[in-house]
Amino acid sequence: MLKIAASMPQQYRDASAEDLAARIAAAKEQLGERLLILGHHYQMDEVMDFADARGDSFGLSRIAADRRDADLIVFCGVHFMAESADILTGPEQQVVLPDLSAGCSMADMADIDQVEAAWADLATVVDIERVMPITYMNSTAAIKAFVGRHGGAVCTSSNARAVLSWALGAEDGTSRADRVFFLPDQHLGRNTALAMGYPIDELMLWDPAQRLGGLETGAIERSRVLLWKGHCSVHGRFTLDQVERFRAEHPDGKVVVHPECTQDVVDAADAWGSTDFIIKWIEAAPEGTVVTIGTEVHLVKRLADEHPEMTITCLDDEVCPCVTMARIDAPHLAWVLEEAVAGRVRNQITVDPETSRWALVALERMLEIT
Ligand code: 13P
Ligand code: SF4
Repeated sequence: MLKIAASMPQQYRDASAEDLAARIAAAKEQLGERLLILGHHYQMDEVMDFADARGDSFGLSRIAADRRDADLIVFCGVHFMAESADILTGPEQQVVLPDLSAGCSMADMADIDQVEAAWADLATVVDIERVMPITYMNSTAAIKAFVGRHGGAVCTSSNARAVLSWALGAEDGTSRADRVFFLPDQHLGRNTALAMGYPIDELMLWDPAQRLGGLETGAIERSRVLLWKGHCSVHGRFTLDQVERFRAEHPDGKVVVHPECTQDVVDAADAWGSTDFIIKWIEAAPEGTVVTIGTEVHLVKRLADEHPEMTITCLDDEVCPCVTMARIDAPHLAWVLEEAVAGRVRNQITVDPETSRWALVALERMLEIT
């Protein structure tokens, strides 16, 4: 297929919702089995309605790795997810992100030059061979490759505990490292390590803007997990105050949150876990449950629509969408599909072979561990 970089024509923005839905369905029909549309749980319904598979970032990466028969994968999610899909799929498979501006502000908080500099800094204090880099899926392919090259693994919010255990030998006693360098989400790293029983004074925040991460050498030597100073601006909006107000209004109500929320919010919740965990929690809850959810609002709204037998609200009543996830909309989906029907692959995501090789090592380690 011919690859051409182009922007979406205005006619897609002007089309009605009904027209777009009909055109997406028709293009899907024409592309048949060779097309696979993957939808992350945060996607809008106008897109999700056409996903062949829905999932969290872990589930979607597994599907991308397994579906060798699909030669065109349209990833409805954000850039790092499409990159991971490209890395996990074969060279003959093409991965498309309907809008290239669908990034992730958290992934952008760790760039490879900063990480290389931090690693060199760290090596002046501790035996770097005994430091294991672990990166959250929400990171660039270059960071994943760095981690792969240095013996580490990727994790997602579904398996962060298993991956940290693998690194630190918490559960099988086989310690692969003295400490973990956890990128780029401090909250997922902290919440997971605390749940595993590591004391807070062994979890150190590494500020990439400062020499030695802003830490004393003694603090680095004492650390078990060094947490990169990154966060999600969407989940950062949830507060302990919101949890307390909900509890005051609904003494029997439940609070379920994503581990990208801050520690005080996670500690105050009844349950926490990945987007897939949250969905399963709701599916298992009894009729009449009153629950507030601390995660991206499109998922919360979908759950509320699908479960009228419960009262489901978003913990932040001001509503907090992930604006970059929402850049994948029906016009962009219709455009890339109709272009594919015409033999033109738009917005293909390709990771260079060297980066891909090492990032694959880190991703495959994760898939083996979990
Ligand atoms: P999941 O790992 O639950 O899919 O979450 C990804 C994400 O970007 C959450 O903000
Ligand atoms: Fe990134 Fe946060 Fe959006 Fe998830 S919700 S994709 S972490 S910005």
